[in-house]
Amino acid sequence: MRNIAVIGVGYVGLTTSACFADLGNRVVALDINEERIENLRKGIMPIYEPGLKEIVERNIQAGRLNFTTSYEEALRDAEFVFICVGTPSGVDGEADLRYVRMAAETIAKTMDHPLIIINKSTVPVGTGDWVSDIIKENQPKPIDFAVVSCPEFLREGTAISDFMNPDRTVLGSTNRAAADAVAQLHLPLRAPIMVTDLRTAEMIKYASNAFLATKISFINEMARICEALGADVKEVATGMGYDQRIGPRFLEAGIGYGGSCFPKDVQALAHMANIHGSNPQLLQAVMDINHGQRLHVIRKLEEILESFEQKIVGLLGLAFKQNTDDMRESPSITVAEYVHERGGIVRGYDPAAMANAKAIMPYLQTAKDPYELATGVDALIVIAPWNEFKQLDFVRIRDSMRQPILIDGRNLYDPDTMRQLGFTYRGVGRGYHNGKAD
Ligand code: UDX
Repeated sequence: MRNIAVIGVGYVGLTTSACFADLGNRVVALDINEERIENLRKGIMPIYEPGLKEIVERNIQAGRLNFTTSYEEALRDAEFVFICVGTPSGVDGEADLRYVRMAAETIAKTMDHPLIIINKSTVPVGTGDWVSDIIKENQPKPIDFAVVSCPEFLREGTAISDFMNPDRTVLGSTNRAAADAVAQLHLPLRAPIMVTDLRTAEMIKYASNAFLATKISFINEMARICEALGADVKEVATGMGYDQRIGPRFLEAGIGYGGSCFPKDVQALAHMANIHGSNPQLLQAVMDINHGQRLHVIRKLEEILESFEQKIVGLLGLAFKQNTDDMRESPSITVAEYVHERGGIVRGYDPAAMANAKAIMPYLQTAKDPYELATGVDALIVIAPWNEFKQLDFVRIRDSMRQPILIDGRNLYDPDTMRQLGFTYRGVGRGYHNGKAD
């Protein structure tokens, strides 16, 4: 049993806190947002993450997990301090490190015993050294510490499972003993643990996310070529995936990636490359393809409707993907703004993200389920592939729409089945339709 402090109780920090507590450690999680901390003490989650409420409540009850706004309380017994604060995109895509700086400065001023400080937030290569400098500069008197990079590889919607079943744990530090101590914390997860230097560990995180984003933009470019050549990209991805060097995952063509990580991390890595004199050609193409993919899908509808003026467009799913309420960089925002700016009326339904979506898009009409969403609309666009969209009653949907137009932004449905039902159906890269691009 070890004593752990976690700074920042967002998507990463809350999962990290709850999971380390669930492994038997004593965890004190800190956030500067008092309301968030008060709510967590009452078992009210700040985010939608399957399974999180249960694991947080269980560990609060067991006395292993506490929440605070006080650095003194958080660090009092701590041996390890995980920095899990946000690193949003700043100017030119550079990661904004103000919250990391605030955390490092406050840790330095508060600590009264040796600590191992772990960067879990996604931070630019070289930040570990920068955090060390900040701590040295802000300590009232020198106290031993070490900085370790331990990047997170958590996906929203499966964060707890990803924490408990990692493909690997990556640790970076100039202090081998500190890295080994952090490795001990991860032993129960029974996954490969790699220890390297700080910069390399930070780079592994960016390179991993950039590669995954590249895979998505690759299959989306294949989808556009499939539309031109009359092939079905879903079948192409299946055929590719049998090759062990390619693998079947992350080859789902659609409206493109969003979220708080891929857009931010690819942009930050490209920025780092640029300012250090290396031209990130492929990363720029990955970003360009992804941005264009949203427009590619919207234009399928625009071609059918000819004009959005006074048309009602229903968005099936609003979050950037299924199983989350996170609207950050969601394709639904691009689609809704495009339609709204052209005089269209946008209505949306999402199982978890309604409140967040309404806060970002005040003009959004809301619906309580897919059937209310479909009533009277001129078209439906699939944005997030939630399970509950996979076996809808499409006869009921079709008969309630003003026009049975369905743009399947996630290739959830079979084109022939939907057309036999009477829909004007468009997928993404699904081969020819009546001899021309889908
Ligand atoms: C990602 C990484 O997967 C995770 O390892 C990292 O720690 C954080 O960023 P996340 O952004 O939460 O996780 O979700 P993910 O499931 O990776 O999906 C990212 C985006 O790509 C979503 O918009 C999703 O819809 C899209 N996507 C994913 C595709 O368009 N096609 C795919 O085949 C897979």
